[in-house]
Amino acid sequence: MTQNSIFLKACRREKTPVTPVWLMRQAGRYMKDYRSLREKTPFLEICKNKDLVTEITVSAQEKIGADAAIIFSDILLIVEPFGFDLSYLKGDGPSIRRSLDSPKDIERLPEIEPEASLGFVLEAIRQTRRALKPGVPLIGFAGAPFTLASYLIEGGPSKDFASTKEWMRQRPQVWGMLMEKITHATAKYLNAQSKAGAQALQIFDSWVGCLSAEEYRAFVLPHSARLIQMLDTSVPVIHFGTGTGPFLRLFSEAGGDIVGVDHRIQLDEAWEKIGKTKAIQGNLDPAMLCTASLAEIRREVQSILKQAAGRPGHIFNLGHGVLPDTPVENVVALVEMVHELSRR
Ligand code: CP3
Repeated sequence: MTQNSIFLKACRREKTPVTPVWLMRQAGRYMKDYRSLREKTPFLEICKNKDLVTEITVSAQEKIGADAAIIFSDILLIVEPFGFDLSYLKGDGPSIRRSLDSPKDIERLPEIEPEASLGFVLEAIRQTRRALKPGVPLIGFAGAPFTLASYLIEGGPSKDFASTKEWMRQRPQVWGMLMEKITHATAKYLNAQSKAGAQALQIFDSWVGCLSAEEYRAFVLPHSARLIQMLDTSVPVIHFGTGTGPFLRLFSEAGGDIVGVDHRIQLDEAWEKIGKTKAIQGNLDPAMLCTASLAEIRREVQSILKQAAGRPGHIFNLGHGVLPDTPVENVVALVEMVHELSRR
């Protein structure tokens, strides 16, 4: 039943009666229930509690009527089994203590056994799969090697990625070792997620847009490509990045059945670059969903659908995650609009 869902059909570029839609960060801070839970419970504790994860994942999907659910988790959870201290500070985003320094630190990174060290995510996927309606697909996810490496090197969010770029350019061999370690661990982790019941996998390369095309080609593409090659071929892979416009052909070449694009590029232009043999996901500006009137949002949805031109293989999404101040009504209205305006 789930295999015939409009989301999975669009992943396979099959025709659907309406365009499927889900939103990155569809569960979380813009929802009142989540905020009240968060007042009492630290973020990591929520991520490690399978009942809370199931509840948050399923209730968000049901509340907004999305065509897929994404497991409530975080791309940084994998840094704990790598031996780093992870914390989420109020307002400041994530922080990783003891960041990477020497090649020795990289050699010392332990092999990751997902069932042993990230078993709580896999348990949550199993339980959430059982709790979701049978027709609603569940998406698993992980960070892409570049984005994860940047967190390990910078120790948290960064604006300029200066240290990451320094590693890349000044110590390309050490950089390569780090990327290989991350790639290997992430492939195991994603395959464990699909085995646990995730029916599609998304790889978030959220910060890769800080690179030039040449840097992407030399220092990132081979690793992202390797990661995607290592994944179980029975589930579709969504390869998402922001700011990838200038090197979208290369980004798409790295792999993925569906390429996720942000709002800084026109959807039709992006699809041209990606090629028609792949599906595309995107790309309403999350700031518009947060602040614009429903009439403006509707015009923008229409414009994006027009660019997709009814071609099979478009999954509607935002260009990046839902912003925390977004009114829930806008999100609910967006999902309805996409269905209504795309009906064929
Ligand atoms: O999409 C969903 O509904 C699933 C949940 C999800 C979270 N993080 C929950 C979360 C997903 C898919 C992620 C992925 C993630 N995490 C990414 C890639 C997506 C993107 O936005 O680019 C990145 C870069 C991270 C790292 C991360 N985690 C940051 C930078 C932050 C702090 C700022 C922020 O955006 O929230 C987090 C914390 C985080 N992850 C929260 C949630 C709900 C907020 C924690 C809180 O409640 O305080």
